[in-house]
Amino acid sequence: MNNKVVVLENETEAAELIRNYLSEIEDIELDKIYTDYDEGVEYCKNTKPHIVIYSTTENKITNKNIITQLADKNINTIVLSSNYTTNLVIEALRYGAKDFISKPIIKKDFINSIKKCCKEMVKTINKSNIISIYSNKGGIGKTTIATNLAVEFARQTREKVVLVDLNLPLGDITTFINIKPSVTITSAIETATHKGAEAVFNACKQYKDTSLYVLAEPIYMEESHTMTPTHIYKLFEYLRESFSYILVDVGTNVDKTNIKILELSDLILLVSIVNLPLIRNCQRCLDLFNNLCFDENKTKIIINRYLENDEIKIEDVEKVLNQNIYWKIPNNYFTIMSSINKAMPVCEINENSNVTLSFSGLASKLTEDIIAKDFIINQ
Ligand SMILES: Nc1ncnc2c1ncn2[C@@H]1O[C@H](COP(=O)(O)OP(=O)(O)O)[C@@H](O)[C@H]1O
Ligand SMILES: [Mg+2]
Repeated sequence: MNNKVVVLENETEAAELIRNYLSEIEDIELDKIYTDYDEGVEYCKNTKPHIVIYSTTENKITNKNIITQLADKNINTIVLSSNYTTNLVIEALRYGAKDFISKPIIKKDFINSIKKCCKEMVKTINKSNIISIYSNKGGIGKTTIATNLAVEFARQTREKVVLVDLNLPLGDITTFINIKPSVTITSAIETATHKGAEAVFNACKQYKDTSLYVLAEPIYMEESHTMTPTHIYKLFEYLRESFSYILVDVGTNVDKTNIKILELSDLILLVSIVNLPLIRNCQRCLDLFNNLCFDENKTKIIINRYLENDEIKIEDVEKVLNQNIYWKIPNNYFTIMSSINKAMPVCEINENSNVTLSFSGLASKLTEDIIAKDFIINQ
């Protein structure tokens, strides 16, 4: 079957060049070239071509709507631009573009990009990132961070995001965002063993009408004892097939199940608070990760409940841990407590509060870093 391509290009010469190059690629059929982008986007939304080539002359993706509208319809968009800056590339990819090619078009790069896009369509497994939120101490803000970050990931990327409560046996995500799932993680594991990825996806409960889903904690404490590292492996393999971002609220115990999920994670957000015993704990976790031979770039340190005028300075913490602090979330007891008591994410309590802005900034920094990393790996 041929892959249909629609081109949005208003420069005649470039459009002709694209037509010629496309004619040289097997299994590709040029459907239409549009100079009027609104008309072109409408056509794409109705006919769903496999690939759209979208040429822009802007030096900012001001017309982000085109990319997001196409991404919402699961149409692969390749952006062409004479403005090839890192920021522009990241911005385009964040809005859902599959690739970015600089202009003037180099034939080899163009053909490779189209072929790569076709190959990825064949591969049904999405690129997917597991992000674990971890601390070996309770009460530090792990669930607060995991929940609010997951809401932000879904809001910003519009991709499918799942929030998994592995805080066994006493998870509490469902009470943080008031969700009542019919299936919990233990039954999802049983489902995974017998029924596969689609059934696991169906076990995840959608949060309102967003692209965020939740895989809830077990209802009964004793249920969690049946979980093994093999179960975890299988479950997350299936989740990777359905979700772009998998956020995990990991338990505090250093047991086999938790080590398995930390091992499987693409990123670990190690949460701490600026006080001596907790920094010491954070150091212990870093030593553990080092002993487990985790890639040192995999762990990012997040300081929660940060106060500007704290006695211990961030630079001191960085010196002790011998690692930069990736992000600081301000201390805001009032907004966080109000969010927990009302069972809503902080952005629904106060969209301008310092914690809301901080979660939003953290999600955006993480997606940028993830996209930049994937982009480099795929070059
Ligand atoms: N940024 C913050 N500012 C103020 N208080 C916070 C913040 N983050 C968390 N808290 C407080 O810490 C408590 C524990 O948070 P929680 O997310 O349940 O931690 P954990 O999951 O690590 O046990 C919350 O009840 C809340 O009062
Ligand atoms: Mg918790």
